[in-house]
Amino acid sequence: MQREHKEIISAEDRTTWAVTGPAILTPRERGSDQAAASMVRTLFDRPRWLEPCHLYDEKGSLLFEDICELPEYYPTRTEAAILEREAGALMSLAPVECIVELGAGFSKKTVHILKALTNARGRGTFAPVDVSNTALMASKRMAEELFPELAFTGIEARFEDAITSITREIPKLVVFLGSTIGNFTPTDMLHFFSHLTENMGPEDYLLLGVDRIKDPAIIEPAYDDSRGTTAAFILNGFHNVNRVTGANFRLEKIAFRSRYNHKRAQVEMCGIARETHKVEFPRQSASFVWEKDEAILMETSRKFDPEDLQVQLRCFGLETLGHWTDPEQWFSLLLFRRNAPSAESP
Ligand code: AVJ
Repeated sequence: MQREHKEIISAEDRTTWAVTGPAILTPRERGSDQAAASMVRTLFDRPRWLEPCHLYDEKGSLLFEDICELPEYYPTRTEAAILEREAGALMSLAPVECIVELGAGFSKKTVHILKALTNARGRGTFAPVDVSNTALMASKRMAEELFPELAFTGIEARFEDAITSITREIPKLVVFLGSTIGNFTPTDMLHFFSHLTENMGPEDYLLLGVDRIKDPAIIEPAYDDSRGTTAAFILNGFHNVNRVTGANFRLEKIAFRSRYNHKRAQVEMCGIARETHKVEFPRQSASFVWEKDEAILMETSRKFDPEDLQVQLRCFGLETLGHWTDPEQWFSLLLFRRNAPSAESP
């Protein structure tokens, strides 16, 4: 059993991964210490910010699932409709048996791809990667129920750790949906693609879902909904910081703010101090004074021009095989094959 699951990990890295839950792999010696250090580093930066992966604790993962169902939140249903329509076509362009999904969440949209995979090949492997154990267990339940013919291995890890360790021996389709790429800063996005393409094998494919630049009147309500679910999701990030680091953020002193930044084509979601107060990190013997109206940037959601993005990705040796969109052109699904890079990576 252990062996079987570890086949997705390259032979030289197998000893650094452990099978923790049923069918879940996780890197050894990575845990709450790493998470706490990453939180403290950015919270003491100026301006203060938090890596968005820390929004996805158990409660955060559930709140994000609620966001996906909000009437204002168009990306999930728009992308799901494109996937449902095109999954067969894209699986014939990418003739692989292994699907690795980055930031899989509950893998609800992935059902369309897995259906196309089992229709076309009758078997295969599904390996979702997520920092949330809750999300991986939900993916596992879904896969076992709907696709018993597929092998399932969950990878509970940050993208970097998973990308470095996944084997190049098995041809695969790397799936990165939901415009999660929009969480990265432009610089981090380029690092991500350089790291990803360096670790992709010659017969690997990438399916990328990106939210497109459009009228802000459509974008803004999607990230500041009338029910306050987005606010609850972002504010829960402070609760998670308290849990992981022992800090004492007080939710009643924090307001949620979501704004579309035109120049950067991104939504910026922040926590704002309602009054000046001190935030303490006893385990670090550190504290800071959070000034009234000062923002802590909790998440950005960048929007893309799919043509510009393809030009950028060609520099990493990613050649476009397919580009699908919805009738309103709000969202794009892009399928790439990895070729030899045509230019130096940054
Ligand atoms: C998970 C990063 C794709 O940017 O649309 C949605 C996150 N945050 N509403 C997005 C999010 C608040 C979402 N991603």
